[in-house]
Amino acid sequence: MALHCLVSPGGSPGVTTTALGLAMTWSSEVLLAECDPMGRRVLPGFLADRLRESAGPGLLGLAMAAETGPNAQLALEDYVAPIPGADSVTLLHGVRDPRHGVRLEALWGRLAEALTSREGDVIADLGRIGGRDTPDALLRAAQTVIMVLKPTLTQVDVAGPRLDALREQISDGATAGLCLVAEGPYSAAEVERVLGTPVMAELPYSPADARVLSDGARPRRTFKTSLLLRSFKCLGRRIRATAGALPTDIGSESDAVLCGASAGGDR
Ligand SMILES: Nc1ncnc2c1ncn2[C@@H]1O[C@H](COP(=O)(O)OP(=O)(O)O)[C@@H](O)[C@H]1O
Ligand SMILES: [Mg+2]
Repeated sequence: MALHCLVSPGGSPGVTTTALGLAMTWSSEVLLAECDPMGRRVLPGFLADRLRESAGPGLLGLAMAAETGPNAQLALEDYVAPIPGADSVTLLHGVRDPRHGVRLEALWGRLAEALTSREGDVIADLGRIGGRDTPDALLRAAQTVIMVLKPTLTQVDVAGPRLDALREQISDGATAGLCLVAEGPYSAAEVERVLGTPVMAELPYSPADARVLSDGARPRRTFKTSLLLRSFKCLGRRIRATAGALPTDIGSESDAVLCGASAGGDR
């Protein structure tokens, strides 16, 4: 099935939180793959008090297995773990120590193959792109690449050249889009025009709800119906529609309302 990569231009706009939120609200079986060479977040964050059994050896274990069996097919499913409370979501947790990033370089090509040939969809968090450690093989194999950024001058400035490079990298038929974490002076239309890339969703600035996903904070009573979660669902619908799974779903009026952040955050 399809590989959807979430990336950032740097500056911690919330790409990991968005990747996890997207996975938790995905409409079918999905694997969240933490492929940010700078390190993992879900295990010590969202899963810190939720994990009941071992999350397994994760991405580093997979890299070590790949080193010992350079020609064998990667047994990806042996390295993924269920996310408690989210029946259809599994996790391939990332490396803890960024020094292990170099071990991942030889893995990316084979991982791209394994991720695109598995049954369910995959959401991969690549973190900041544009550096020498960027998993380019995953970007080339992706059906969709979403750059998460804030609509500020500094974020738009760093995003520009990274999106130029990205458009050259992704395959024909793949889509590059933006997801704005609304906390900045520019409108979606302005960012879209300057970066020449469609805005697929605007997320509200919802620090309390975001902390549930990024830090494992206790959810408020309204978390499940929050604007943030509804916006993740909307982003998911947009991504699947663009990937061709739900052609009638794109651009519907309700999506336009839910994908907008104008209603404000933490509701
Ligand atoms: N939509 C949002 N509204 C408010 N705060 C957010 C939102 N998304 C993420 N955050 C916060 O931003 C911080 C960085 O998030 P994270 O997802 O780790 O960023 P990145 O992966 O881009 O480095 C965290 O404290 C998280 O709670
Ligand atoms: Mg991150």
